[in-house]
Amino acid sequence: MNNFQYKNPTNIIFGKDTIAKLAEEIPADAKVLMLYGGGSIKKNGIYDQVKTALKDIEHFEFGGIPANPEYAVLLEALKVIKDKEITYLLAVGGGSVIDGTKFLAAAGVFEGDTPWDILTNKKPTLQAMPFGTVLTLPATGSEMNSGAVITRAETKEKLAMGGAGLFPAFSILDPQVITSIPRRQLVNGITDAFTHVLEQYMTYPAGALLQDRFAESIMQTLLEVAPKVLEDPSDYDAASNFMWSCTMALNGLIQKGVPTDWAVHAMGHELTALFGIDHARTLAIIAPSHYQYNFESKKEKLAQYAERIWNVTEGSLEDKAYAAIEKTESFFNDMGIDTKLSKYTNEFEGTAEIIANRFTERGWLGLGEHQSLKPEDVETIVHMAY
Ligand code: NZQ
Ligand code: ZN
Repeated sequence: MNNFQYKNPTNIIFGKDTIAKLAEEIPADAKVLMLYGGGSIKKNGIYDQVKTALKDIEHFEFGGIPANPEYAVLLEALKVIKDKEITYLLAVGGGSVIDGTKFLAAAGVFEGDTPWDILTNKKPTLQAMPFGTVLTLPATGSEMNSGAVITRAETKEKLAMGGAGLFPAFSILDPQVITSIPRRQLVNGITDAFTHVLEQYMTYPAGALLQDRFAESIMQTLLEVAPKVLEDPSDYDAASNFMWSCTMALNGLIQKGVPTDWAVHAMGHELTALFGIDHARTLAIIAPSHYQYNFESKKEKLAQYAERIWNVTEGSLEDKAYAAIEKTESFFNDMGIDTKLSKYTNEFEGTAEIIANRFTERGWLGLGEHQSLKPEDVETIVHMAY
């Protein structure tokens, strides 16, 4: 097991009707900006619950943060923060609203030339405005981690940021919120969370028995509850297991003391930036090719995963490892997710080269758990995913 430090300061308030507890978490003298997305919260009652909870706290609103939070929109929110002298941010939404809020928390105290530098200066964000979240869509884990991904349509870029200053002070997780989520987004959430586990597990054996079993238990739980959640999102037992699994998949715990990959996400983000494909679907496009291309270096963990998650007991280690890739791809396909880029766009020719060139320009010359994947390897993997 590798050395590690682990600290996660986010206060999780989990369960039925917990949105009402919101005001207890925010300082009474705060001037709050409530941030939300395209308006789903106004249809499903979450907006009203939040407004009721905030009734005695001075607050303003900013709605309209789109999926894949857009930099230009966030700059408008930043202006509100400055004009109204906001002291506390409250995200009410999925990963996009929470990530947008994290960017704003950093931008609100940033002293550089342009807030875009936060995304490009490669410095961790250690100072930020305080913020909390009300999660409306289980998927990203953003409610309990310190990362964010911001999109800039103007340049077709999608870049990550993060740092110890960007953990939410609190996050409210009421599993009842999933009843209004469209099937497409539920499928995305299951796929994103499952792939988060894979990114932190599908590397090489590191003697971290407990971390492996944490990771496996999250994948097993997701596989068990996925059909139930898709069949009936009002099934509270299934919803609560789904929600907590998504949070646990990316709150830092399972990656401690083990190597991590994250190359699937790096390539996937480019597919969203170039074609607007939903984040989770980009992962399902890249992951099978990535595991095939890196078969030799990942085969021990692929075989372990085949045995423990998919109950593959027959054949050699290689046979099991191949079966693992097939089972994973079928899992995505069975939920209705296409795993080839050409199913999403006719403009796919040249994509692999564009992505490889971008990585070269950014100096991303060694991805994956061995930092060994060069832009030319990325080009081949993306090509395999056409
Ligand atoms: O905008 P509204 O109207 O709220 O609708 C949203 C949006 O259209 C809707 N939705 C959310 N909660 C709902 C609901 N509809 C009905 N009922 C509800 N309760 O769902 C749509 C998608 O929302 P979004 O927030 O975009 O989805 P998700 O949570 O999957 O977030 C995706 C974003 O998170 C980033 C992705 O790159 C992407 O930009 N990620 C963030 C990570 C992190 N911070 O750790 C890690 C991830 O790997 C990922 O990169
Ligand atoms: Zn993800």
